Amino acid sequence: MNVFITRKLPDELLQPLRDAGISYTEWTEPNRLPQDELIRQCKQHDAMLSAGRIDMNTHFLNECSNLKLIALMSVGYDNIDIATATRLGIPVSNTPGVLSKATAETAFLLMIAAARKAFYLHQRIIQGEWHSFDPFTDLGIDLQGATLGIFGLGSIGYEMAKRCKAAYDMNIIYHNRSSNKKAEEELHATKVSFETLLQQSDVLSVHAALTTETRNKFDKAAFSQMKKNTIFINTARGALHSEQDLIKAIQTGTIWGAGLDVTNPEPMDKNNPLLFMPTVAVLPHIGSATVKTRYGMARLAVDNVIAGLRGEQLPQIINK
Ligand code: DGY
Repeated sequence: MNVFITRKLPDELLQPLRDAGISYTEWTEPNRLPQDELIRQCKQHDAMLSAGRIDMNTHFLNECSNLKLIALMSVGYDNIDIATATRLGIPVSNTPGVLSKATAETAFLLMIAAARKAFYLHQRIIQGEWHSFDPFTDLGIDLQGATLGIFGLGSIGYEMAKRCKAAYDMNIIYHNRSSNKKAEEELHATKVSFETLLQQSDVLSVHAALTTETRNKFDKAAFSQMKKNTIFINTARGALHSEQDLIKAIQTGTIWGAGLDVTNPEPMDKNNPLLFMPTVAVLPHIGSATVKTRYGMARLAVDNVIAGLRGEQLPQIINK
């Protein structure tokens, strides 16, 4: 039994594969793995562990229908054609849960950075623009007692809400298909319509998966319903918001600003206007990038590979 791993992983994380008698090939090149090479490799392996965002489209899946398992080292799976994988009988696993706290912390960081213009002011120091103390310039907005709106209240959204409640006693509202009883009981969160979420949130934080329903959900029409002081946070997927509409909404003062860990496309162009706006903070998709979290994600992906190749029940599976 063997597995193709799309990135070099720390050696100690691969010990369980060796112990299980599973051999592996890692893609060690720093450059992006081309699809023809990915297909060539996957045809020679029983399973694939995808550590990084690779487009697993219909063509790839049809070519690699030999795979007994695709183990993603991510919670999101919008980069794989799940319907085709299911039709071909290929189980696909992901790594939810282990990354919720780290990703929520990234959202929390971006919220404060946007509220206090932190990334912009850091740049100003580098540019030699720190002059005398002026009590009425570079002012931010307060978060104490503000209303936090969560779009998609799963485990990452819950961790964000928990942090905002503890730090700033925020009033939590959320929009989700199902009710989140835990958040309602512990954080006094209230489920609201999408319109109410837009109209009442001082901070609107996106934690939903990218689907045909959520793609471009935050567009001109959505931003125009928000308050002038709203901070828009997206640590989920860049395609949930329209970048052009977001730029306009901030430039025209329709909303206060934004904190983005995800953009569309990625990487973001270095001349993108969002990078130069005082009330915007952008990070390069590092939501889950802590040592503990990334090791946890890799361990779970490896556990999924072992279970899948042994024909056991997967610890995590997307397409049951
Ligand atoms: C995830 O786990 O989905 C992260 O966004 C990395 O793709």
